[in-house]
Amino acid sequence: MQKVNEKTYAELAKEWDEIADKRYQQMANGIDNSYDKIITPFILDSTNKTDLTSLIDAGCGNGILLSKIESHAKASVGIDISKKNISIARNLCKTSKFDCCSIEEFSKKNKKLKATTIICCMVLMDTPSLTDTVSALSRLLKKNGNLIWVITHPFFWPRYWGYENEDWFKYSDSIPIEAFFKISNEETTFKTTHTHHPLWKYINTFHNNGLSIETISELMPIKNDNFNLENQPNYPRFLAGICRKLF
Ligand SMILES: C[S@@+](CC[C@H](N)C(=O)[O-])C[C@H]1O[C@@H](n2cnc3c(N)ncnc32)[C@H](O)[C@@H]1O
Repeated sequence: MQKVNEKTYAELAKEWDEIADKRYQQMANGIDNSYDKIITPFILDSTNKTDLTSLIDAGCGNGILLSKIESHAKASVGIDISKKNISIARNLCKTSKFDCCSIEEFSKKNKKLKATTIICCMVLMDTPSLTDTVSALSRLLKKNGNLIWVITHPFFWPRYWGYENEDWFKYSDSIPIEAFFKISNEETTFKTTHTHHPLWKYINTFHNNGLSIETISELMPIKNDNFNLENQPNYPRFLAGICRKLF
């Protein structure tokens, strides 16, 4: 695990291309408990409450999530910089359209498209420029449209992935970090890069782009039925919310 310089889209796309098959296997075979039990229920519950006339899954990855929602949408599109992910998603989804490009590029190419709902699940900490990505997401939303987002919890993730006490880590800085991708049940040999941002940075970036935070949730593992305080998993933790575009 190490602090790195900001990476280009080409470099990041290569990382997500390389891990795409592994990630699909983890998600399709139900190995990623957190994704199935914490993240997916949040997104499905949120999309139940929003207008799905025009849906964008921004940073859709392999499309597993979109495939569960697309039948409720009148029109849906998935965007991702990873070619490999887009090709998996194209095979999986039945009615959605896809574009292999960055969210920023998509918003420039589709100035007239105004989505009623955008899902941005586990992407905002993986994009090189939080400001550019959030500003593009805001441009793609209709007035009063909703942005449903999930990120790794910026306060707890450094502890969970074990870099909280590294001398290069400072909570208040934005820091690109390269590490072997891991989920609770499996460590992999694939490196991916995420950028740590302090919490205030996310909140200010939403605010500066006309996105009002309507709901916010701190998602964490659900307690087992056989309640035993010592064995309860405290990690991973995620931060999730729904924003509304104000103007
Ligand atoms: C952790 S994966 C999450 C994928 C999917 N949303 C999910 O929930 O399974 C992050 C994805 O975001 C994509 N990504 C990161 N920054 C992006 C950007 N600015 N525009 C489009 N895709 C981006 C990556 O290629 C990768 O597939």
